[in-house]
Amino acid sequence: MPIKRNEFRMHQRIVQQTLLMLYFLLSYNGAQGDEKLSKLEEVELEKQLKLLNKPAVKTVKTKYGDIYDCVDFYKQRAFDHPLLKDHNFYPKMKPTLSRIKKNSNSSTVSSSSTIWSKDGGCPFGTVPVKRITKDNLIRQRRMPQPEDVTFDTQFDVSNNNSELKGRYISSQGYKIAIARTPNEPNNRFAGAGMATSVYNPHVKDGQHSGSRLKIQKGSDILQVGWRVDPTLYGDTKTRLFIHFQAGKTHCFNTLCPGFVQVDSEFPLDRSYQNMLSQRGGKTWDATMYIDRDLANGNWWLLMTRSFNQVGFWPQRIFTDLTSFATNVEWGGVAYSPPGVPKPPMGSSFFPIKNSSYDGYCSEITILNEKGKTIKVDETITHTDNPSMYQVFAEPIWHNSEWRYFVLYGGPGESPHV
Ligand SMILES: *[C@@H]1O[C@H](CO)[C@@H](O)[C@H](O)[C@H]1NC(C)=O
Ligand SMILES: *[C@@H]1O[C@H](CO)[C@@H](O)[C@H](O)[C@H]1NC(C)=O
Ligand SMILES: *[C@@H]1O[C@H](CO)[C@@H](O)[C@H](O)[C@H]1NC(C)=O
Repeated sequence: MPIKRNEFRMHQRIVQQTLLMLYFLLSYNGAQGDEKLSKLEEVELEKQLKLLNKPAVKTVKTKYGDIYDCVDFYKQRAFDHPLLKDHNFYPKMKPTLSRIKKNSNSSTVSSSSTIWSKDGGCPFGTVPVKRITKDNLIRQRRMPQPEDVTFDTQFDVSNNNSELKGRYISSQGYKIAIARTPNEPNNRFAGAGMATSVYNPHVKDGQHSGSRLKIQKGSDILQVGWRVDPTLYGDTKTRLFIHFQAGKTHCFNTLCPGFVQVDSEFPLDRSYQNMLSQRGGKTWDATMYIDRDLANGNWWLLMTRSFNQVGFWPQRIFTDLTSFATNVEWGGVAYSPPGVPKPPMGSSFFPIKNSSYDGYCSEITILNEKGKTIKVDETITHTDNPSMYQVFAEPIWHNSEWRYFVLYGGPGESPHV
């Protein structure tokens, strides 16, 4: 019957088409050797994510749309560190810090409490942690090696060129404009601090630009500051960052185990969207400190002028920073992959020695080995390329007094926007 035959033919055609499609699909897959590999990689990524992301007690949101998991204090990533398996840390830990003793009355109300949307932040006993996504891990692979800008006398044993002795060398792609403590091997610093003006330099994919406080001894380095870093954050917002390097281990924020978060309010990658300075207009600055616990040698991160105790790097993860730091540095850093023009730094303009116009680090202090705060008024400045970025460290007229400032920044190789 004609109808049945038509039906049969239609069936036949559908089957043929399906087979044809299957054939193309299969041969397509067969031709893509790397497709299969990336499937494996994907499984690997999923496995990593499972290890990295700890269960959330609650999920909270900031006013700026960032979402954080509230992770139980004892389950945080830091405790994956082999040297932190056995610890007696607890959520109410308080450091012994001279900076805080002197200001014991300072308010403990965190200015960051205002960053949470109306359901509030994380409950006590938990810490806010950004959930890591597959996208984060993929971007992380494109992250450049950390900047090992340092004194080659201390670090670069493979280099026997005595001409370079004591000189500063920036690693490839990095440019800095900084002020630092005089290079003396007998320096014994128990901490350092600064208030840094917050800007949002224009940064493209693969580049980053920021401001930081950096303390160092030997191969151990601690940093805190702000940065615009699409590779790290997946956006071009100005965000807080911390970075630590303990021997060969290094990472930002808590992407690898090391930093123990204590404060339930203060996310380590918070956005400074509400605090961006306008060059020549209103200037905002963020205050940050890294101080050594006088009792046990842990290195604490303190934020804001009320010394919010965000958390600490335990002494035992270090080999050199088990004791005091020998170098402290304040200022700007910018990075582009090789061949890509350098991004702007600081306020994106060369400093003109006016705090309303320049990227700056002010209120720069160090702590001596007894924990006494010393106002810094003498530093050594360094810039890798004065035609891109400049730096001055000197007293300027600010709020009706002369105050010591590190003023840094510049357009890089980017035209002014
Ligand atoms: C510190 O706090 C105590 C108790 O609240 C109060 O009596 C004292 O006046 C405060 N001191 C200063 C300097 O504010
Ligand atoms: C050390 O210096 C010598 C003489 O200048 C040179 O021949 C040699 O290649 C250098 N070694 C390294 C590791 O740089
Ligand atoms: C810095 O700039 C501001 C704003 O233009 C101006 O009011 C101030 O006088 C300047 N300060 C100095 C020391 O020139």
